[in-house]
Amino acid sequence: LILVLDYGSQYSQVLTRGIRDLGVYSELHPHRLTIDEIKKINPKGIVLSGGQRSVFDQEKPLINEAIFDLDIPVLALGYSALEMNQLFGGVVTESDESGYLEAEIQAATKTPLFASTEAMQTVWLSKTDQIETVADQFVVTATKDSQIVAIQHQDKAIFGLQFHPEMAQTTNGQAILKNFLYEVCDCQGSWTAAYYVKHEVEKIRQTVGNRKVLCALSGGVDSSVVAALVHKAIGDQLTCIFVDHGLLRKNEGDTVMKTFKDDFNMNIIRIDAEERFLSKLAGVSDPEQKRKIIGNEFIYVFDDEADRLKDMDFLAQGTIYSDVIESGVDGGKMVKSHHNVGGLPEDMQFELLEPLKSLFKDEVRAVGIELGIPEEIVWRQPFPGPGLGIRVLGEVTKEKLEIVREADAILREEIAAAGLDRDIWQYFAVLPGIQSVGVKDGERTYDHTVGIRAVHSVDGMTSDWARIPWDVLEKISRRMTSEVDQVNRVVYDVTSKPPSTIEWE
Ligand code: XMP
Repeated sequence: LILVLDYGSQYSQVLTRGIRDLGVYSELHPHRLTIDEIKKINPKGIVLSGGQRSVFDQEKPLINEAIFDLDIPVLALGYSALEMNQLFGGVVTESDESGYLEAEIQAATKTPLFASTEAMQTVWLSKTDQIETVADQFVVTATKDSQIVAIQHQDKAIFGLQFHPEMAQTTNGQAILKNFLYEVCDCQGSWTAAYYVKHEVEKIRQTVGNRKVLCALSGGVDSSVVAALVHKAIGDQLTCIFVDHGLLRKNEGDTVMKTFKDDFNMNIIRIDAEERFLSKLAGVSDPEQKRKIIGNEFIYVFDDEADRLKDMDFLAQGTIYSDVIESGVDGGKMVKSHHNVGGLPEDMQFELLEPLKSLFKDEVRAVGIELGIPEEIVWRQPFPGPGLGIRVLGEVTKEKLEIVREADAILREEIAAAGLDRDIWQYFAVLPGIQSVGVKDGERTYDHTVGIRAVHSVDGMTSDWARIPWDVLEKISRRMTSEVDQVNRVVYDVTSKPPSTIEWE
């Protein structure tokens, strides 16, 4: 395991994932970890991330010097490299610039980190501070013109780089990280999806023994992968509950059942709760109230079923690494509180089983593929827990759900047909509840407007509206207005987040 300590860099997650992509398991932790905690993790190497601060900032995150006495290899990047140089008695000067630049450096290729790379190479260099003189026990291993940009301890495996090997701009970045992992830390490189599945299956078997596990399956990526993984480990000791709240997209419920019941042969109970949800939603138009009703009702339905099943010992949940990091490292930054179908219920008497807790989203997908889950589920775009309930604006009725469901199916078909389905992060239809005048077959109509929402995003926190080509939009609009009853107008949402949110409610 490689331990990445976060000193506030925007690249920390990229770094952690980059290391895993090179076949070595890595974990990101806050820089405040104590020496005892680090010893307990027992890493083969420690990477100190860069950071946004200057070493001259009062509020800079401090490096615990005892890290350098652990006899574990250390690689310090950006801010941390400069702070480390200063800690060991070297001199750092403040520059009046900040940010990064692509720079050409001259590296000592006989040193462990730069082995098998070219002497002249391009790197993504932090400009915030500069090393003026190198600390006593260190030597210089790379320069830009005459400026020092890389250092190395003379006796210990401690390295500092003022640039970021995890960034694509650093042409030899992967080679440098690999040198650190494989040559310096002596890692084995066995971290792959197959390896993960094998070990996790073993772990689940040990934890669960002959007891029983319950899982709320929504058909989303995370809950699907959890279910398949736990099923692989303990087979029929797993029971899944799939609550169909009637707010799913077209054919979604059937696809989930076909995949997991028919193909995977899982114990899965589908609860058809459409009427129950719709009657609770009748007459309610306030978005927050709708969310609450759907979230609560979900718990009640799930609860009832779990009670009926009795003697379940564990609840398997699709918590993934970014959920853990968001709430753990330097405070979370949630915008809305979301109802997540997989993440419930709180007050039930279960032990939790969270086998994806250490995986990033793309790794969850790789594990899903490894387990044989179809690509259409593994690559599914995010879908909110309250489903179409928040895509029919205002009061939700069966009739309106039907309109938005059909329009959404057309949108998805056409986006896929245009080959854009992996390119656009999330796309869906909304029903604003506006009726307007139109004309069809020479007759006046007074029908619904459908809104098209499509965004690019990394994590849903911010987004940019996707530029769907005009001809694709044209086809979508034509099909929606001719194939979906009661639709005579289609509009395209051209706002980003902020100021909008991705969903309309
Ligand atoms: P907003 O609308 O807040 O959405 O910009 C950001 C991302 O979160 C999804 N979303 C939800 N996901 N339960 C979920 O599991 C929810 O209640 C919920 N509300 C929004 C939304 O689809 C987008 O991907």
